[in-house]
Amino acid sequence: MAGTLVRFTNAVRNHKGFLAVSCNNSQIAFFSTPPAGTPPPQTKTTFGPLADEDRIFTNLYGKHDWRLKGALKRGDWYKTKEILLKGADWIINEIKTSGLRGRGGAGFPSGMKWSFMNKPGDGRPKYLVVNADEGEPGTCKDREIMRHDPHKLVEGCLIAGKAMGAKAAYIYIRGEFYNEASNMQVAIAEAYQAGLLGKNACGSGYDFDVFMHRGAGAYICGEETALIESIEGKQGKPRLKPPFPADVGVFGCPTTVTNVETVAVAPVSTI
Ligand SMILES: Cc1cc2nc3c(=O)[nH]c(=O)nc-3n(C[C@H](O)[C@H](O)[C@H](O)COP(=O)(O)O)c2cc1C
Repeated sequence: MAGTLVRFTNAVRNHKGFLAVSCNNSQIAFFSTPPAGTPPPQTKTTFGPLADEDRIFTNLYGKHDWRLKGALKRGDWYKTKEILLKGADWIINEIKTSGLRGRGGAGFPSGMKWSFMNKPGDGRPKYLVVNADEGEPGTCKDREIMRHDPHKLVEGCLIAGKAMGAKAAYIYIRGEFYNEASNMQVAIAEAYQAGLLGKNACGSGYDFDVFMHRGAGAYICGEETALIESIEGKQGKPRLKPPFPADVGVFGCPTTVTNVETVAVAPVSTI
Protein backbone atom coordinates (compact mmCIF):
# COMPACT_ATOMS: atom_id res chain seq x y z
CA MET A 1 0.00 0.00 0.00
CA ALA A 2 2.80 2.40 1.00
CA GLY A 3 4.68 1.55 -2.21
CA THR A 4 1.58 2.24 -4.31
CA LEU A 5 1.17 5.58 -2.59
CA VAL A 6 4.80 6.56 -3.27
CA ARG A 7 4.48 5.59 -6.96
CA PHE A 8 1.21 7.49 -7.22
CA THR A 9 2.66 10.61 -5.54
CA ASN A 10 5.76 10.57 -7.75
CA ALA A 11 3.63 10.16 -10.87
CA VAL A 12 1.59 13.21 -9.88
CA ARG A 13 4.68 15.25 -8.97
CA ASN A 14 6.42 14.53 -12.27
CA HIS A 15 3.43 15.25 -14.46
CA LYS A 16 2.49 18.73 -15.69
CA GLY A 17 -0.88 18.01 -17.37
CA PHE A 18 -4.28 16.94 -16.07
CA LEU A 19 -4.76 13.89 -13.92
CA ALA A 20 -7.68 11.47 -13.73
CA VAL A 21 -8.03 8.44 -11.48
CA SER A 22 -10.34 5.65 -12.61
CA CYS A 23 -13.23 4.55 -10.41
CA ASN A 24 -11.63 1.32 -9.19
CA ASN A 25 -8.45 3.25 -8.25
CA SER A 26 -6.28 0.85 -10.21
CA GLN A 27 -5.59 3.13 -13.17
CA ILE A 28 -4.14 6.59 -13.46
CA ALA A 29 -4.66 8.50 -16.70
CA PHE A 30 -2.97 11.74 -17.77
CA PHE A 31 -4.30 14.23 -20.32
CA SER A 32 -2.40 17.11 -21.92
CA THR A 33 -5.67 18.91 -22.63
CA PRO A 34 -8.39 19.36 -20.00
CA PRO A 35 -11.15 16.73 -19.96
CA ALA A 36 -14.46 17.77 -21.56
CA GLY A 37 -16.54 20.04 -19.35
CA THR A 38 -13.58 21.59 -17.47
CA PRO A 39 -14.26 25.33 -17.00
CA PRO A 40 -11.65 27.70 -18.52
CA PRO A 41 -9.06 29.21 -16.13
CA GLN A 42 -10.21 32.37 -14.34
CA THR A 43 -8.77 35.50 -15.96
CA LYS A 44 -11.51 38.03 -15.21
CA THR A 45 -10.86 40.13 -12.10
CA THR A 46 -13.53 42.81 -12.46
CA PHE A 47 -17.14 41.99 -11.69
CA GLY A 48 -20.09 44.34 -12.23
CA PRO A 49 -19.40 48.07 -12.01
CA LEU A 50 -16.72 47.65 -9.33
CA ALA A 51 -13.04 47.81 -10.25
CA ASP A 52 -10.39 45.94 -8.31
CA GLU A 53 -9.30 49.11 -6.51
CA ASP A 54 -12.87 49.58 -5.21
CA ARG A 55 -12.68 46.47 -3.09
CA ILE A 56 -13.29 47.16 0.59
CA PHE A 57 -11.31 44.20 1.89
CA THR A 58 -7.88 44.32 0.35
CA ASN A 59 -6.17 41.48 2.14
CA LEU A 60 -8.67 38.64 2.19
CA TYR A 61 -6.14 36.29 0.61
CA GLY A 62 -3.53 37.13 3.21
CA LYS A 63 -0.96 38.34 0.68
CA HIS A 64 -0.08 41.47 2.62
CA ASP A 65 0.81 42.46 6.17
CA TRP A 66 -2.32 42.29 8.36
CA ARG A 67 -0.77 44.18 11.26
CA LEU A 68 -1.12 47.91 11.94
CA LYS A 69 1.73 49.00 9.66
CA GLY A 70 0.29 47.12 6.68
CA ALA A 71 -3.28 48.16 7.52
CA LEU A 72 -2.29 51.85 7.54
CA LYS A 73 -0.68 51.42 4.11
CA ARG A 74 -3.93 49.94 2.78
CA GLY A 75 -5.97 52.92 4.01
CA ASP A 76 -7.32 51.73 7.35
CA TRP A 77 -7.59 54.23 10.22
CA TYR A 78 -7.80 57.00 7.62
CA LYS A 79 -9.48 60.17 8.98
CA THR A 80 -11.05 58.14 11.79
CA LYS A 81 -10.76 61.08 14.17
CA GLU A 82 -12.59 63.35 11.70
CA ILE A 83 -15.38 60.76 11.32
CA LEU A 84 -15.76 60.50 15.10
CA LEU A 85 -15.85 64.27 15.49
CA LYS A 86 -18.77 64.48 13.05
CA GLY A 87 -20.89 62.79 15.74
CA ALA A 88 -23.38 59.94 16.10
CA ASP A 89 -26.22 61.44 14.02
CA TRP A 90 -23.90 62.13 11.10
CA ILE A 91 -22.44 58.58 11.15
CA ILE A 92 -25.89 56.98 11.32
CA ASN A 93 -27.08 59.14 8.46
CA GLU A 94 -24.08 58.11 6.34
CA ILE A 95 -24.78 54.44 7.08
CA LYS A 96 -28.44 54.94 6.11
CA THR A 97 -27.47 56.72 2.88
CA SER A 98 -24.96 54.00 2.00
CA GLY A 99 -27.84 51.49 2.01
CA LEU A 100 -25.82 49.07 4.17
CA ARG A 101 -27.84 46.06 5.30
CA GLY A 102 -26.83 43.59 7.99
CA ARG A 103 -24.55 40.80 6.81
CA GLY A 104 -25.62 38.43 9.59
CA GLY A 105 -28.36 36.93 7.44
CA ALA A 106 -31.58 38.92 7.74
CA GLY A 107 -30.36 41.95 5.79
CA PHE A 108 -32.02 44.46 8.12
CA PRO A 109 -31.04 48.09 7.27
CA SER A 110 -28.05 48.82 9.52
CA GLY A 111 -28.52 52.60 9.81
CA MET A 112 -32.02 52.11 11.16
CA LYS A 113 -30.95 49.32 13.51
CA TRP A 114 -28.09 51.38 14.94
CA SER A 115 -30.39 54.39 15.38
CA PHE A 116 -32.47 52.42 17.93
CA MET A 117 -29.51 52.88 20.30
CA ASN A 118 -29.08 56.57 19.58
CA LYS A 119 -31.63 57.88 22.07
CA PRO A 120 -31.18 59.74 25.36
CA GLY A 121 -29.56 57.47 27.95
CA ASP A 122 -31.01 56.52 31.35
CA GLY A 123 -27.65 56.12 33.07
CA ARG A 124 -26.97 52.54 31.94
CA PRO A 125 -23.94 52.04 29.68
CA LYS A 126 -24.62 50.89 26.12
CA TYR A 127 -22.74 48.12 24.36
CA LEU A 128 -21.92 47.06 20.84
CA VAL A 129 -21.66 43.30 20.45
CA VAL A 130 -19.99 42.00 17.31
CA ASN A 131 -21.28 38.63 16.18
CA ALA A 132 -18.22 36.64 15.09
CA ASP A 133 -19.75 33.24 15.74
CA GLU A 134 -19.98 32.26 12.06
CA GLY A 135 -21.38 28.84 12.83
CA GLU A 136 -23.36 28.32 9.63
CA PRO A 137 -21.92 25.23 7.92
CA GLY A 138 -19.91 26.18 4.83
CA THR A 139 -19.84 29.87 5.72
CA CYS A 140 -16.38 31.36 5.63
CA LYS A 141 -16.46 35.14 5.26
CA ASP A 142 -16.06 36.68 8.72
CA ARG A 143 -13.09 34.52 9.64
CA GLU A 144 -11.12 35.77 6.62
CA ILE A 145 -11.75 39.37 7.68
CA MET A 146 -10.57 38.65 11.23
CA ARG A 147 -7.54 36.65 10.15
CA HIS A 148 -6.26 38.86 7.34
CA ASP A 149 -7.88 42.30 7.80
CA PRO A 150 -8.47 42.58 11.56
CA HIS A 151 -7.87 46.36 11.73
CA LYS A 152 -10.93 46.95 9.53
CA LEU A 153 -13.03 45.36 12.25
CA VAL A 154 -11.31 47.19 15.12
CA GLU A 155 -11.77 50.55 13.39
CA GLY A 156 -15.36 49.59 12.53
CA CYS A 157 -16.07 48.85 16.21
CA LEU A 158 -14.94 52.35 17.14
CA ILE A 159 -17.08 54.06 14.49
CA ALA A 160 -20.17 51.86 15.05
CA GLY A 161 -19.69 52.26 18.81
CA LYS A 162 -19.63 56.04 18.48
CA ALA A 163 -22.80 55.93 16.37
CA MET A 164 -24.55 54.01 19.15
CA GLY A 165 -23.05 55.96 22.05
CA ALA A 166 -21.55 52.68 23.29
CA LYS A 167 -19.03 52.47 26.09
CA ALA A 168 -17.37 49.32 24.73
CA ALA A 169 -17.56 46.57 22.14
CA TYR A 170 -17.51 42.84 22.82
CA ILE A 171 -16.40 40.71 19.90
CA TYR A 172 -17.97 37.29 20.47
CA ILE A 173 -15.84 34.90 18.44
CA ARG A 174 -16.47 31.25 17.72
CA GLY A 175 -14.25 29.12 19.97
CA GLU A 176 -12.71 27.13 17.12
CA PHE A 177 -11.38 30.30 15.45
CA TYR A 178 -8.08 30.19 17.32
CA ASN A 179 -5.88 31.98 14.76
CA GLU A 180 -8.54 34.58 14.09
CA ALA A 181 -8.97 35.33 17.80
CA SER A 182 -5.22 35.56 18.15
CA ASN A 183 -4.81 38.02 15.23
CA MET A 184 -7.76 40.09 16.47
CA GLN A 185 -6.18 40.31 19.91
CA VAL A 186 -2.88 41.49 18.40
CA ALA A 187 -4.70 44.11 16.30
CA ILE A 188 -6.62 45.36 19.36
CA ALA A 189 -3.39 45.62 21.36
CA GLU A 190 -1.71 47.52 18.51
CA ALA A 191 -4.66 49.93 18.35
CA TYR A 192 -4.45 50.60 22.10
CA GLN A 193 -0.70 51.12 21.86
CA ALA A 194 -1.12 53.63 19.02
CA GLY A 195 -3.80 55.57 20.96
CA LEU A 196 -6.51 54.55 18.47
CA LEU A 197 -8.59 52.84 21.19
CA GLY A 198 -9.09 53.42 24.90
CA LYS A 199 -9.23 56.80 26.58
CA ASN A 200 -9.52 59.65 24.09
CA ALA A 201 -9.57 57.22 21.15
CA CYS A 202 -7.78 58.69 18.10
CA GLY A 203 -7.55 62.01 20.00
CA SER A 204 -11.30 62.51 19.51
CA GLY A 205 -12.24 62.90 23.19
CA TYR A 206 -14.30 59.67 23.01
CA ASP A 207 -13.41 56.79 25.35
CA PHE A 208 -13.98 53.33 23.90
CA ASP A 209 -12.80 49.82 24.75
CA VAL A 210 -12.85 46.62 22.71
CA PHE A 211 -12.90 43.18 24.34
CA MET A 212 -12.67 39.71 22.83
CA HIS A 213 -14.87 36.92 24.15
CA ARG A 214 -14.30 33.37 22.90
CA GLY A 215 -17.36 31.13 22.71
CA ALA A 216 -17.29 27.36 23.08
CA GLY A 217 -18.51 26.50 19.59
CA ALA A 218 -22.31 26.21 19.77
CA TYR A 219 -24.28 27.04 16.63
CA ILE A 220 -27.19 28.51 18.59
CA CYS A 221 -24.85 31.09 20.16
CA GLY A 222 -24.90 32.89 16.79
CA GLU A 223 -28.49 33.91 17.59
CA GLU A 224 -28.21 37.32 19.17
CA THR A 225 -29.97 36.71 22.49
CA ALA A 226 -28.30 33.32 23.03
CA LEU A 227 -25.00 35.05 22.30
CA ILE A 228 -25.78 37.67 24.96
CA GLU A 229 -26.57 34.93 27.49
CA SER A 230 -23.26 33.26 26.64
CA ILE A 231 -21.27 36.48 27.15
CA GLU A 232 -22.91 36.77 30.55
CA GLY A 233 -21.53 33.32 31.40
CA LYS A 234 -24.85 31.48 31.15
CA GLN A 235 -25.91 28.60 28.88
CA GLY A 236 -26.37 29.86 25.32
CA LYS A 237 -30.15 29.70 25.12
CA PRO A 238 -32.24 32.33 23.30
CA ARG A 239 -34.25 34.82 25.33
CA LEU A 240 -37.86 35.71 24.73
CA LYS A 241 -38.45 39.05 22.96
CA PRO A 242 -39.52 41.67 23.92
CA PRO A 243 -37.59 43.16 25.56
CA PHE A 244 -35.29 43.58 22.57
CA PRO A 245 -31.53 43.90 23.09
CA ALA A 246 -31.64 47.63 22.27
CA ASP A 247 -33.61 47.99 25.54
CA VAL A 248 -32.28 45.12 27.64
CA GLY A 249 -29.22 43.43 26.20
CA VAL A 250 -25.91 42.33 27.66
CA PHE A 251 -25.64 42.82 31.46
CA GLY A 252 -29.15 44.32 31.37
CA CYS A 253 -27.95 47.29 29.28
CA PRO A 254 -28.94 48.60 25.83
CA THR A 255 -27.07 46.53 23.25
CA THR A 256 -26.85 46.08 19.51
CA VAL A 257 -25.62 42.77 18.14
CA THR A 258 -24.28 43.09 14.64
CA ASN A 259 -22.23 40.95 12.28
CA VAL A 260 -18.45 41.20 11.73
CA GLU A 261 -18.70 42.21 8.08
CA THR A 262 -21.40 44.82 8.78
CA VAL A 263 -19.15 46.51 11.33
CA ALA A 264 -15.95 46.14 9.32
CA VAL A 265 -17.39 48.05 6.34
CA ALA A 266 -18.58 50.96 8.52
CA PRO A 267 -15.39 53.06 8.08
CA VAL A 268 -15.58 52.86 4.27
CA SER A 269 -19.34 53.49 4.32
CA THR A 270 -18.81 56.79 6.13
CA ILE A 271 -15.88 58.21 4.12
C1 LIG B 1 -29.68 30.00 14.93
C2 LIG B 1 -29.10 31.32 14.48
C3 LIG B 1 -27.74 31.41 14.24
C4 LIG B 1 -27.18 32.63 13.84
N1 LIG B 1 -25.83 32.69 13.62
C5 LIG B 1 -25.28 33.86 13.26
C6 LIG B 1 -23.87 33.97 13.06
O1 LIG B 1 -23.13 32.99 13.17
N2 LIG B 1 -23.36 35.18 12.72
C7 LIG B 1 -24.16 36.29 12.58
O2 LIG B 1 -23.65 37.37 12.27
N3 LIG B 1 -25.49 36.21 12.75
C8 LIG B 1 -26.07 35.04 13.09
N4 LIG B 1 -27.42 34.99 13.31
C9 LIG B 1 -28.21 36.24 13.19
C10 LIG B 1 -28.10 37.06 14.48
O3 LIG B 1 -29.11 36.65 15.41
C11 LIG B 1 -28.27 38.56 14.23
O4 LIG B 1 -29.46 38.77 13.56
C12 LIG B 1 -27.14 39.16 13.42
O5 LIG B 1 -25.91 38.96 14.07
C13 LIG B 1 -27.39 40.64 13.24
O6 LIG B 1 -26.32 41.24 12.53
P1 LIG B 1 -26.56 42.22 11.29
O7 LIG B 1 -27.57 43.24 11.72
O8 LIG B 1 -25.23 42.83 11.05
O9 LIG B 1 -27.04 41.37 10.18
C14 LIG B 1 -28.01 33.77 13.68
C15 LIG B 1 -29.39 33.67 13.91
C16 LIG B 1 -29.93 32.45 14.29
C17 LIG B 1 -31.41 32.38 14.52
